[in-house]
Amino acid sequence: MEEKKDGFGSKIGFILAAAGSAIGLGNIWRFPYLAAKYGGGIFLLVYIILVVSFGFSLMVTEISLGRRTGKSVIGAYKQADSRFGFLGPVAAAVPFIITPYYCVIGGWVLKYFYVFVSGNADAATDSDYFGGFISQAGQPSIFFIIYAALTAAVVILGVQKGIESVSKILMPILVILSVGIAIYTMTLNGAVDGFKYYVLPNFEGFTVAKLLKTIVAAMGQLFYSMSLAMGIMVTYGSYMRKQDSIEGSVRQISFFDTLIAVIAGLIIVPSVFVFSGGDASALNAGPGLMFVTLPKVFDSMSGGRIVGTAFFVLVAFAALTSSVSLLETMVSIISERFKLQRVASTIVCVVIVIVMGMLSVLGYSSWSEVSIFGYQILDFFDFISNNIMMPIVALLTCILIGYVVKTKYIEDETTLNGEKFRSKGLYDVMTKYVCPAFMIIILLTPFFVDL
Ligand code: PHE
Repeated sequence: MEEKKDGFGSKIGFILAAAGSAIGLGNIWRFPYLAAKYGGGIFLLVYIILVVSFGFSLMVTEISLGRRTGKSVIGAYKQADSRFGFLGPVAAAVPFIITPYYCVIGGWVLKYFYVFVSGNADAATDSDYFGGFISQAGQPSIFFIIYAALTAAVVILGVQKGIESVSKILMPILVILSVGIAIYTMTLNGAVDGFKYYVLPNFEGFTVAKLLKTIVAAMGQLFYSMSLAMGIMVTYGSYMRKQDSIEGSVRQISFFDTLIAVIAGLIIVPSVFVFSGGDASALNAGPGLMFVTLPKVFDSMSGGRIVGTAFFVLVAFAALTSSVSLLETMVSIISERFKLQRVASTIVCVVIVIVMGMLSVLGYSSWSEVSIFGYQILDFFDFISNNIMMPIVALLTCILIGYVVKTKYIEDETTLNGEKFRSKGLYDVMTKYVCPAFMIIILLTPFFVDL
């Protein structure tokens, strides 16, 4: 049974919850290393342009679709046009794939928080520490299950009492913590060089091919970071009050999301610079940056135990509001489909998450030999969801809105409260032409360039 009456109780509640979904590991862990890899300021600029054009349009579409139909993602596409009904299950499958491994990473974050808070950070400075931790099955499973249980606890409480109230508490703390840590980092000796490296465009060796790669990377990041093309914003839109402004909310959500990503870079890039004595190659740790490089950085600072603890609290909060949105989307699908109450449906979903997440945990330990098309289990889930399913969902959504039901379908919803749809021109062009073209490029790129 879908709980129609339980929706967001206020505009700010909706914005904070949607921003909470958007702001997550993607902002803190993924964005900084991508920015460092793709020419600092150039990446920032490309990313910001994409957020206000492409990200804006897709998010308006999804939230409006959800609010207009009042359905979870499966019902929403079907109601818009029955021929596009199949898109619902495809979008819905994405959270079922992402939630389990997202919670596994959430468990790693809890572990690092625990390491710092208990004053054992120097153990974590060993380069093999992280590899050693994830290659055993026991501890990662325990932290993963604790993390999944925390997520489920928020979802069980419901949209208003759980998601909205938790977001209202955690999100302001998150902003304060990130600004505070960033300011502290800036005061360290040598941080300014890192700051320059991060914000100033680096055109050295910059070719057209590299620009293309930068755009594709920024685009992939944008999807992930704004929680697009996986039914999440459709679900949250269905809980939104009719009198609140969609356009205004989307602007604020994307502003917060980008702000936190930029601030995370301001923490990570300069501190790695300080630690490595200005050696930019230390930033190339890629995904390992947060778990391998950063603990060393914190450990080398005075007050590193406090900064490190604060940092991992920040990451844990950011991750939690994201996994809550993922689990909520699963719960809304299961409860609508099988007519289950929230509690029962949450329990079913969390069991699915734990069973599937264990595959990822084991993929690093007992089953580390297993590979699917050359990927480790966790990376494989990440690849098919981000590089294949999400661009397909976005492409077909644009075709549905641009050519089948027409953009007026969305405009009507955004103007329901009597306000004008100010960016209608931009929205139409993006939805009909630019977004579909970009999606096709993203889908084809892996065949032509080695990313
Ligand atoms: N947007 C979140 C982030 O930046 C991740 C996320 C992905 C959340 C998918 C929900 C769904 O980390």
